[in-house]
Amino acid sequence: MELIISTDEESGSKIAYEILKETLLKNEQAVLGLATGTTPLKLYQLMIDDYQKGNMSYKNIKTYNLDEYVGLDENNPQSYRYFMNKILFEHLDIDLNNTFVPNGIGNQEVSILEYDKLLKNLGPADIQILGIGSNGHIAFNEPGTDFNLTTHVTELSKSTIKDNSRLFNNINEVPTKAITMGIKSIMESKQIILMAFGKNKQEAIYQLLSGKIDNKFPASILNNHQNITVICDKEASSLLTEKKID
Ligand code: F6R
Repeated sequence: MELIISTDEESGSKIAYEILKETLLKNEQAVLGLATGTTPLKLYQLMIDDYQKGNMSYKNIKTYNLDEYVGLDENNPQSYRYFMNKILFEHLDIDLNNTFVPNGIGNQEVSILEYDKLLKNLGPADIQILGIGSNGHIAFNEPGTDFNLTTHVTELSKSTIKDNSRLFNNINEVPTKAITMGIKSIMESKQIILMAFGKNKQEAIYQLLSGKIDNKFPASILNNHQNITVICDKEASSLLTEKKID
């Protein structure tokens, strides 16, 4: 696991973009694993800026996202499909038919099987972008989740609902369930970039870097991945120096 501590979110996102760009330039048909949330926003803006300068094309790129809230359809502004369309896809030359987000509505068993089939057909992500929850979740694999699970429906933990309520009018509007890729599929990615910015992530980064693997802290399994770069800003990394992990 390579750790990069950036001055701030801006410079951390630039480093992430350089890594991503290198991978995409090597393979114009790359499969890109994407996350939602606040963490990748600056990275996505850098992708758009560079595309608009004519430096990149996403014409032959395929993407899949980690997760979706159960009960929200693509027209709901809080859904992750809506988020991805508005924040990223509509600003690139990507074919929307080549972008995939788990289906949050309809029969869940069917949606799960369909997504696993899709992941199998597309093959492992050439590069997977990850954020991390303050409780150590990756995608919506909450504490205690079996590392061997593939796509599944999960109950969101109280802390995730509380963290995500900042993006809703009030906490009661936050969906309580999500359909998420499992850790097994995430671990199959050829390369991973995990970003973490801000004070709220300092405990999570400290635990991740401690190297102890335990499903009570789902992200800890990433210590077993062969090609992962963790990029965090000074705030998110502050406990590492305080508690002397480097
Ligand atoms: C989002 C996802 C989540 C987020 C995590 C951090 O698709 O899978 O694991 O990466 O909840 O969220 P932010 O970036 O909003 O702090």
